[in-house]
Amino acid sequence: MKILVIGTGGREHAIVRALLADPDVDTVIAAPGNPGIDLVADCRALPGGILDGVGIADLAEEVSADLVVVGPEAPLVAGVADVVRERGIACFGPSQQAAQLEGSKAFAKEVMAQADVPTARAYVCDHEEQLREALDATSAPYVVKDDGLAAGKGVVVTEDLDEAIAHGVGCFGAGASVVVEEYLNGPEFSVFCLTDGVTVVPLTPAQDFKRAHDGGEGPNTGGMGAYSPLPWASDDILDAVVDRIAQPTIDVMLRRGTPFVGVLYVGLALTSQGPRVVEFNARFGDPDIQPVLARLMTPLGSLLLAAAKGELDEVESLAWRSEAAVSVVLAAQGYPGTPRKGDPISGVQDAESDHSYVLHAGTARDQDGALVTSGGRVLSVVALGDDLGSARGRAYDALGRIDVPDAHFRTDIALAAHRGEVSIPTD
Ligand code: AMP
Ligand code: GLY
Repeated sequence: MKILVIGTGGREHAIVRALLADPDVDTVIAAPGNPGIDLVADCRALPGGILDGVGIADLAEEVSADLVVVGPEAPLVAGVADVVRERGIACFGPSQQAAQLEGSKAFAKEVMAQADVPTARAYVCDHEEQLREALDATSAPYVVKDDGLAAGKGVVVTEDLDEAIAHGVGCFGAGASVVVEEYLNGPEFSVFCLTDGVTVVPLTPAQDFKRAHDGGEGPNTGGMGAYSPLPWASDDILDAVVDRIAQPTIDVMLRRGTPFVGVLYVGLALTSQGPRVVEFNARFGDPDIQPVLARLMTPLGSLLLAAAKGELDEVESLAWRSEAAVSVVLAAQGYPGTPRKGDPISGVQDAESDHSYVLHAGTARDQDGALVTSGGRVLSVVALGDDLGSARGRAYDALGRIDVPDAHFRTDIALAAHRGEVSIPTD
């Protein structure tokens, strides 16, 4: 099987790596890819850019792809999967309409209400007076979200009413609606639910670290590290997430005439009342998918093809490595604000071992072919170990071999879980 993967980030590098381990996959082509993907797969340019569905479908035909996997949300929301499918090529990724589950938080809340999915109470606001009323009704900590796509960075969670108002007013100023939500208390985790529009197959859960700095301090980011499994979550948590959340949502999408094919990323908080949805996304999370794919033993290509072809009910139950996996992101100076670009990256090869590997994200080659930074999250190191402590040790040991001037990373990825210090609220 030949698979074309669309995207440039750590998520796509992780997907390409897992696809190459599938004995039924002979060729992986990535577009545009990145310097790390380029070492293992055939990278092709996309002259029309990543939102150009016709260009992507043309490339899929040119390389005779059996399957196109669309990594990021922006091309999905732009309708790339629709164009690919119209050419009769199997595509892993939802249609433009179904991708609204990520593209609009207000739409996601509407579907959640229809599916009776447990989530935070929410108020959609279009002007300041409404915003103030909603903040009054929810009380601190305040959760204020930009309604549109914001790569996880459009959300402010704060005790400070003035900061909450300022964020909302800033979103209005940029022409966006705002969603104000009740605060969900409890550890967060991600469940990636593969679906063909009817059947739901969940992957093992992971926990992501959204804030920039240790201890959950600093601004929200796209994610600074992740681990799997979750020693603090009970074994039946996946059943609860599928039965109460993912399956009812997929059923509602089907009934609305907009079946969702691809991965429904369910971002959750484990509250005293059980799992509650924080957000839906229409693609794999980055870096949260990295430790999950590190542990997946079932061949990924056949799984994604089954989802794209409506055959997920035929797949056998998934097999997982018993080892733990930890991913730590190295971010450029300035991230999540404006990252500095063009800094030299050294030591990547030294970070690779039998237990660890490097996934590229914001990397590029300069005119001399040297590896330099080109984005906020530069790369991540993924390591496997017998337990979270061992995987953590290996990941940080590998990361210590990489040098990028003034780069930063969190030192506490998976630490609380390893120490048994993640607690679920009881009241
Ligand atoms: P989102 O873009 O909706 O994923 O939000 C980004 C991050 O903000 C989440 O990962 C949470 O850490 C935090 N967050 C969002 N909504 C809530 C909520 N209702 N309660 C608590 N934290 C939230
Ligand atoms: N890691 C969070 C996300 O991909 O949205």
